[in-house]
Amino acid sequence: MSSYLGSLGFSYHKMKKIDDKELDTVCLDKESLLNRLRQEIGYCKRCELYKTRTNIVFGVGNPCTDIMFVGEAPGEEEDLKGEPFVGRAGRLLDRMLEAIGMSRKTNVYIANVLKSRPPENKIINYMSSIDICLPFLLRQIEIINPKLIVCLGTIAAHALLKIKEPITKIRGRFYMYDKSIKLIATYHPSYLLRNPYAKKEAWEDLKKIKEMIVKLREVESV
Ligand code: URA
Repeated sequence: MSSYLGSLGFSYHKMKKIDDKELDTVCLDKESLLNRLRQEIGYCKRCELYKTRTNIVFGVGNPCTDIMFVGEAPGEEEDLKGEPFVGRAGRLLDRMLEAIGMSRKTNVYIANVLKSRPPENKIINYMSSIDICLPFLLRQIEIINPKLIVCLGTIAAHALLKIKEPITKIRGRFYMYDKSIKLIATYHPSYLLRNPYAKKEAWEDLKKIKEMIVKLREVESV
């Protein structure tokens, strides 16, 4: 994972105990690295999705966070606004975050596997775009270097874990991503809107996420 940052002379893994001033510098570095990455994506034509999208949806939130949420692809409202999770599913995600004391304005970063909207939101018809776009998500993760990644739904979980099991089997369990980052998957908010009975399980997952982030922060402060 350190290839991209290493090539730029950065190594956040080595920065174990840092004071507030150093933290500000690290955060500014992360912000500028993300800006550089966004510039590199440019007016992307690497796959056919550029023909139908309005805006590239890169990511939103605090680049200095220790928890990152990963969805699948922008929908109609995200495409128009250029921001992830701003439609109905996004409003549910915001409520889910609020329930565990988090928000995109302060302490999480949110990105998608695909940065351009698939027509009619049918990502299943554009699976080859995932291979093309995924490296940009991997670099967002590398720059942010969170302690915990939360995959929202099957597409994100499969893309990051390289496994194929159904979300019902994967969700609610902790995995390791790239040896040092904990990863958990839960249901996608759109799925929860269609299947409200699954909200109970999603709530169990949210409680585990909250507990894990507290634990991970405790470990760091020791
Ligand atoms: N669904 C996603 O997976 N991502 C978004 O940004 C919006 C809806």
